[in-house]
Amino acid sequence: MCTSSKYNNLLRADRQHLWHPYTQMKDFEQRDPLFIVSAKGPFLYDHEGRCYYDSISSWWSNLHGHCHPKIIEAITRQSSKLDHVHFAATTHEPGIELAQQLVSLAPSSLSRVFYSDNGSTACEVAMKMSFQYWLQTEGERDAKKRHIFISLDRGYHGDTFGAMSVSGTSWYHSSFSPFLFESFRIPSPYCYRCPYNSNIERCGIECLMPLGKILNEKADEISGVIVEPMLQGAGGMIVHPRGYIEKLASMVKTAGVHLIFDEVATGFGRTGKMFALEHSGVTPDFLCLSKGLTNGTMPLAVTMTTEDIYMAFYDDFHKGKTFFHGHTYTGNPLACAVAVASLKIFEEEAVLERIKPAIAQLQQGKDNFNEIDAVGDVRGIGMVAAFELVQNRGSREPFSSEKRLGWQIYLEGLEKGLILRPLGDVIYLLLPLCLEKTDIERLLEKTFEVIQKVSTA
Ligand SMILES: Cc1ncc(COP(=O)(O)O)c(C=O)c1O
Repeated sequence: MCTSSKYNNLLRADRQHLWHPYTQMKDFEQRDPLFIVSAKGPFLYDHEGRCYYDSISSWWSNLHGHCHPKIIEAITRQSSKLDHVHFAATTHEPGIELAQQLVSLAPSSLSRVFYSDNGSTACEVAMKMSFQYWLQTEGERDAKKRHIFISLDRGYHGDTFGAMSVSGTSWYHSSFSPFLFESFRIPSPYCYRCPYNSNIERCGIECLMPLGKILNEKADEISGVIVEPMLQGAGGMIVHPRGYIEKLASMVKTAGVHLIFDEVATGFGRTGKMFALEHSGVTPDFLCLSKGLTNGTMPLAVTMTTEDIYMAFYDDFHKGKTFFHGHTYTGNPLACAVAVASLKIFEEEAVLERIKPAIAQLQQGKDNFNEIDAVGDVRGIGMVAAFELVQNRGSREPFSSEKRLGWQIYLEGLEKGLILRPLGDVIYLLLPLCLEKTDIERLLEKTFEVIQKVSTA
């Protein structure tokens, strides 16, 4: 069978049997899904040999580039030794080694590591632990009141029911609203569309006033506050103003409820620090990690917490304080071995030091996009740069959704060798940490051309 008929047959089978995530399958009446056959470094290659920059790091997971030899070596070594074993009352070397390394990297009070296998679940675990903690420390009668989690408009914590309940992304989740539990939503610190009509010069972080109010009125009904520190990703790549996380954390700590940091997207260098919490110096009660943890190769997630929270579950079995949560692939040894290898790469290749010039180049380069009429706002942090497109710069009026600008940008990006997956009208680059200067130059150039062409068509 010649190669092209092989791929045509596979694409036909894809249409017949597959259902892709976050994808309107009818779009494939017009075009095939992008058929990726191989990857190396920051590049993905399709079945016709075309090369694309992985401009969104394969849904924000890749860090050191694809098929990194040290990652391949770790998978190969581990797969011939121990492929999988359940993690309930069983342990293994990669699981222990990874926990030790994570504890040494995170703030010192986060000394306990609970494994799961995706970002949504890492957040659910934190919420379940938080709620059960109150139950076991305050007694059942009072803890029934701790049924509220506070979260942010435009916050995104995943697609499982608990994660959706605290996500402020109704355009993804509103169909499921009858099933979602109560969560109190505070405004997003979305400076470009400030809910208080303020601007960065006069900002007094007024958007935290509703948090102050509910903490004041209902502190003993609240389990915790969940937030993506520094950068709200799926909600539109919204970068928090200076001082926001510090102020939020101080209010939460004063009220004596749990602070949950969802660093599923921001963890492992993406914002320029190992964890985004380092920009503020704030230590949460829970830290949720996934995505970059395994360099985007194996499903793995982590919920880290404190000894105090851990000890609230530690008792004779018959007291009923066990944390009954686990997944088949919890702490999979292959995934843990890969995560250990990925953290070693950070050390051996001095990644956080090496990316400093790349970050400066990206953050300076992004400002040129202000030259494009349709670009209303330019924002960024670390290896992330985002451009919010608007129909009218003065009024900040968005483009009509019928125009489906994001989809057009995606298609034009493919023509230019970029994989862009805009969030509505927010076009963003969320780049791997392995890029060279020339790569960033090219990525910025091509993205500029794509936005300019599509927005003026
Ligand atoms: C901040 C954040 N939390 C949680 C999730 C959910 O992770 P997963 O898709 O692995 O369930 C995501 C995914 O994009 C995310 O960005």
